[in-house]
Amino acid sequence: MQRRIVIGICGASGAQYGIELLRALQPLPIETHLVLSRWAEVVIGEECGIAAAEVRALADVVHDNGDLAASIASSSFLVEGMVVIPASVKTLAEIATGAAGSLIARAADNMLKTRRRLVVCVRETPLSLPCIENMRTVALAGGMIAPLSPGFYHHPESLADLHRFMVGKVLDLLAIDNQQFQRWGE
Ligand SMILES: Cc1cc2nc3c(=O)[nH]c(=O)nc-3n(C[C@H](O)[C@H](O)[C@H](O)COP(=O)(O)O)c2cc1C
Repeated sequence: MQRRIVIGICGASGAQYGIELLRALQPLPIETHLVLSRWAEVVIGEECGIAAAEVRALADVVHDNGDLAASIASSSFLVEGMVVIPASVKTLAEIATGAAGSLIARAADNMLKTRRRLVVCVRETPLSLPCIENMRTVALAGGMIAPLSPGFYHHPESLADLHRFMVGKVLDLLAIDNQQFQRWGE
């Protein structure tokens, strides 16, 4: 069966993490399905110094966040898992409530209802109680909450080191072999 992973990028700070994840997945025999929200495009323009079109070019298949007729909108279209990186508190809320009005939230709901891997890389600080409750709800439903808060025990020397740490952690959660970062004890 064709291996497939869905990547949703929201309009939260830290879009570079999503871009680096796409780059890490590119050489692998895994079909990537990318959804950029409208606000993700704004943040990419603001923070990353790269055009949204260049980010789309890193994926095998690109979907519009408003296209609820896309393949990945249906749970009959088989994918191994999905990561939302970065995830805004707004899309987290959509996932937690099942209000699947965007393709990112709809595809994430498909992961939860079929017990497939869903990694939600929330980026916000501080956190409101509603956001904390939404993370709790998604975790109870089987999703993995992986806040974009890299560790420092691998002695990062650059932003790229921090990106690799988070990308490696996310690939681990998706059960994809990788050597992105120095593991503790190895
Ligand atoms: C430059 C910029 C940075 C933002 N950073 C964050 C953030 O870190 N976390 C967050 O939850 N929202 C952030 N927002 C607000 C979201 O973009 C906004 O809530 C939007 O509705 C999210 O929609 P989306 O999840 O469909 O992308 C940011 C907005 C802008 C313009």
